[in-house]
Amino acid sequence: MLVKTLLPAFMAVGSAMAQTPTATCSATGGQATINSQADAGQYSGCKKISGSIIIGPNAPGSIDLSGPSEITGDLKVLNNGIIERFSSSDLTTVGGAFEMKNVTKLISVNLPKLKSVKTLTWQSLTRLETIDLAVTKADEISVSDTFLKSLKGLDVTSIKKLDINNNRLLTTFTSSLGSLDDLLNIQANGIGLSVSLPNLVWIANMTIANVTSFSAPSLATVNGSARFDSNYFESFSAPNLTATQSGDISFVGNGKLSNVSFPVLERIGGGLLIANNTELSELTGFPKLKAIGGAVKLRGSFKEAAFPALEDVRGAFDISSTEDISGVCEVFDKQAPQNQGGNGNIQGTYSCTSNNSRANEDTSSTGSIGGGTKNDKKNGAVGMTLNTVLFALVGVAGFAVAL
Ligand SMILES: *[C@@H]1O[C@H](CO)[C@@H](O)[C@H](O)[C@H]1NC(C)=O
Ligand SMILES: *[C@@H]1O[C@H](CO)[C@@H](O)[C@H](O)[C@H]1NC(C)=O
Ligand SMILES: *[C@@H]1O[C@H](CO)[C@@H](O)[C@H](O)[C@H]1NC(C)=O
Ligand SMILES: *[C@@H]1O[C@H](CO)[C@@H](O)[C@H](O)[C@H]1NC(C)=O
Ligand SMILES: *[C@@H]1O[C@H](CO)[C@@H](O)[C@H](O)[C@H]1NC(C)=O
Ligand SMILES: *[C@@H]1O[C@H](CO)[C@@H](O)[C@H](O)[C@H]1NC(C)=O
Ligand SMILES: *[C@@H]1O[C@H](CO)[C@@H](O)[C@H](O)[C@H]1NC(C)=O
Ligand SMILES: *[C@@H]1O[C@H](CO)[C@@H](O)[C@H](O)[C@H]1NC(C)=O
Repeated sequence: MLVKTLLPAFMAVGSAMAQTPTATCSATGGQATINSQADAGQYSGCKKISGSIIIGPNAPGSIDLSGPSEITGDLKVLNNGIIERFSSSDLTTVGGAFEMKNVTKLISVNLPKLKSVKTLTWQSLTRLETIDLAVTKADEISVSDTFLKSLKGLDVTSIKKLDINNNRLLTTFTSSLGSLDDLLNIQANGIGLSVSLPNLVWIANMTIANVTSFSAPSLATVNGSARFDSNYFESFSAPNLTATQSGDISFVGNGKLSNVSFPVLERIGGGLLIANNTELSELTGFPKLKAIGGAVKLRGSFKEAAFPALEDVRGAFDISSTEDISGVCEVFDKQAPQNQGGNGNIQGTYSCTSNNSRANEDTSSTGSIGGGTKNDKKNGAVGMTLNTVLFALVGVAGFAVAL
């Protein structure tokens, strides 16, 4: 179903450039369904399709939509278990959503000129292994459950949301991303995934899980939260990060992590959670950290911990190790709230415990399950729960929804 309208502006040149498609074709009712190559062929003389194109559940093995360079609406391939190849040698722009969901036989997508989409959402494309794209502009990209080894061809410099999950063969993700407005989520991809974001300067929030290496050497600001869970990297460094504006920094269950380094970080807007990173024997990578807007919870198997520049912690401060950290506790005791005998740098409830066999069991962002030997001699706060203090100011609540 299509209506061809020759644009007056193109009519004069139309005959002179007979090979170039010049018409704007309107999808009837704003949306046209393609169920065969013949349906797709109807558009070969169109320069632009006004409306949306749906590739239907019965579209066969191969669909080529060459001709139009622009689709003003959406382009969707949904619930199709037959199509193997989708291509267009001309498409540059999808004004709306480019969605492919539950397309289980699709092997290749060849849209070598596709530069710009509003959003790109790919889900359950379990055989998709070859893509040829040139996307440099999108508000949101989500790629999940594909057979892709690389996301080459999807490379934007700024975006709102980027979500890459459950792509089991994906082993490298390198992006020109300079800034990200809302959330970067990378998790459950290939076991060896290495993530490299060489140009990233600021990012609103990120959750990074199950990756083998992570690098963001230019990152200067996290506006919201940064969360690193269940990764396989041995060391982490944020060499240029000076602040998180409102959210948390957290590292939970990174079983191989032995070195965390934030050499220039001065301020964390929310809380700091470092828990169950059993190989991390020293928490000394925060030499300039002065102020923490939320709570601090440090639980693990570390022997050493020092925050030499710390002046202000608005929330609770809970530090507990399977090891004897009584020397560390003596230093932090001095910064406890005044009602716990310290100088008040720490405003919330303070607790420091050694020899806590259960130190790695508590990875929650609030409260504490106690255990171990308390250094605290001065008051009856032993065993007091910390759940009166909200750890997560903004970030953790946001992630609970996002995950
Ligand atoms: C996925 O697509 C197949 C057709 O290939 C369909 O039978 C099935 O119901 C779809 N699954 C979902 C969850 O929509
Ligand atoms: C994040 O912080 C940077 C640096 O301060 C700022 O330029 C950017 O606008 C902020 N972004 C958001 C989404 O708040
Ligand atoms: C991947 O990370 C998630 C946390 O986001 C964790 O629950 C899961 O166990 C991890 N998977 C593997 C295989 O490490
Ligand atoms: C680190 O940040 C400073 C500005 O604070 C900038 O001049 C410098 O180029 C950044 N370094 C890297 C590696 O991006
Ligand atoms: C991301 O961070 C911003 C602060 O820049 C915050 O307002 C927003 O709620 C966060 N979004 C998510 C999804 O966590
Ligand atoms: C701690 O991390 C290890 C992986 O290093 C994981 O197997 C274990 O379940 C985690 N424990 C808790 C309580 O999260
Ligand atoms: C931890 O990493 C930082 C930065 O990569 C490095 O300067 C430091 O020497 C490392 N510390 C240890 C104990 O390996
Ligand atoms: C921790 O355990 C060791 C070995 O049992 C013991 O020598 C040390 O005194 C204990 N430290 C604290 C603070 O209880």
